[in-house]
Amino acid sequence: MTAQRTTARQTTANDPLTVAVLGPGGIGGLLAALLSRAGHRVVCLGGDETAEALRTNGIQVRSARFGDFTAQVEADTELREPVDACLIAVKATALDAALTRVPPTALGDDALIVPFLNGVEHPAALRARYRPERVAPAVIRAESTRVAPGQIEHASPFAEIDLTGDTVPRDRLDALAHALDTAGPSTRVLPDETAALWAKMSFLAPFALLTTRHALPLGDVRTHHREQLTSLVEETAAVSRACGGPADPTQALARYDAFPPGMKSSMQRDAEAGRPLELDAIGGALLRAAEHHGIPAPVTTGLVRELREAGH
Ligand SMILES: NC(=O)c1ccc[n+]([C@@H]2O[C@H](COP(=O)([O-])OP(=O)(O)OC[C@H]3O[C@@H](n4cnc5c(N)ncnc54)[C@H](OP(=O)(O)O)[C@@H]3O)[C@@H](O)[C@H]2O)c1
Repeated sequence: MTAQRTTARQTTANDPLTVAVLGPGGIGGLLAALLSRAGHRVVCLGGDETAEALRTNGIQVRSARFGDFTAQVEADTELREPVDACLIAVKATALDAALTRVPPTALGDDALIVPFLNGVEHPAALRARYRPERVAPAVIRAESTRVAPGQIEHASPFAEIDLTGDTVPRDRLDALAHALDTAGPSTRVLPDETAALWAKMSFLAPFALLTTRHALPLGDVRTHHREQLTSLVEETAAVSRACGGPADPTQALARYDAFPPGMKSSMQRDAEAGRPLELDAIGGALLRAAEHHGIPAPVTTGLVRELREAGH
């Protein structure tokens, strides 16, 4: 039996970790504050204004699930020392620019790189830049918004994380999952990275593309655009299946039907606010995967084209 690679810093489950958080926004700010409150050392990485605000005021969280609290964090514009883990929580549209704040040499050889982005293509981009066997993608189910630098509103009554990473030693995933779970969000380690990422993608893509394209909440989409929703869910499931992910269109439709009618996607909220959309990371990635596997994707093709023609 091959012994697992020894980590640079031997930790036990309850040792405080040093965690960098690149992009302390809705998701990154929430995780940074929760980890800091739980006793871990947290270094947030952002632009000058955000880093200054965080250093001065900490992170203020309003959350029905985790309470209202302020957590002190360190903040910088660039990572300057090795850490146990670097959580990456920028939007896909900002990923390339933001990664310049995390030089591979500063990160150290052993740090886990843990992206929380939606989508399926960013792990490969991270593996090309950092030690590939240290990239541990995470999927998060939560609704959390950065209302100002260092001010986070966590609106959903839940926050759940699936941590994965086919190439990462299991003890490292378990240690980080334990730290996250005890800090707040229910966290589990899943063995199949592709399945974990596509499970989220297959649910998110139809919801995001249709609510944004029609500028309607989910309840109106599932009532007035039912046929298009059903076709898109089936199309997405076929692509997911071809990629090695889950594929259950009936279950996906049942989940949409169970959500509150007023629910909006974050892509739709970004469109309403005039912010750049993660359209390429969601719709574009779906189309590239469909093309790679020779799966017809006419509904996705039309929606992505229409959204791009609308200026997104
Ligand atoms: N929010 C949710 O509820 C949710 C749920 C599930 C998944 N996700 C996914 O999680 C990811 C992050 O989303 P989010 O909603 O948390 O985004 P967000 O609130 O917009 O936060 C992004 C953060 O990235 C920072 N940033 C932007 N460019 C940067 C750069 N060049 N260098 C350093 N920091 C930079 C922003 O800084 P400033 O504060 O200075 O603007 C902001 O703090 C996305 O892929 C999203 O799809 C989000």
